[in-house]
Amino acid sequence: MRECRRCPLFSTRKIPLLGSGNIHSKIMFVGEAPGEKEDESGVAFVGPAGKVLDEEMAFLGLNRDNAYLCNVIKCRPPYNRTPSRSEQEACLPFLRWQFLLMRPRMMILLGSVASKAIIDPHFSIMAAHGKIVERKGVLMCPTFHPSAILRDPTKKDVAWRDLATFKETIDKEKLREIRFFVPTP
Ligand code: URA
Repeated sequence: MRECRRCPLFSTRKIPLLGSGNIHSKIMFVGEAPGEKEDESGVAFVGPAGKVLDEEMAFLGLNRDNAYLCNVIKCRPPYNRTPSRSEQEACLPFLRWQFLLMRPRMMILLGSVASKAIIDPHFSIMAAHGKIVERKGVLMCPTFHPSAILRDPTKKDVAWRDLATFKETIDKEKLREIRFFVPTP
């Protein structure tokens, strides 16, 4: 990924960010793209949006030791602008590889960019947040991006209701348990 030249973002970013957390987790959070603090540290969700996400994870009984965090786009777009469609297409193979390696049972999709990139380009986060859809055995859980909650705090109650739905499924399926994959010799 450090050598990637598939889109122009490599020329403005500092550190590409593959992801953070536990790769053995069955739960993968997917955001949009690294922000300023993530670009400087190479760690996912360490800026202001990360503080909201930490609260959300705590509500779900999750943390960075039992969940995995990553983004659709691995390099920070200048001024945190929304990544273009062609940048997303160029970067999506990394997320596909991450998905194939981890095989998560649940993907919590943070915001419109992640939900559109992963569920359907016509997906509306306003209309369908909080509704779990199953695709090829993976539970897709769309909700607002933590930055959207920071911009509009009235979204917080709604987002927490989404999380309550996801929590029920996490509890029912015991998704906090970490099972290590041991290859047969
Ligand atoms: N916003 C995102 O979508 N991802 C991060 O890693 C940080 C902020």
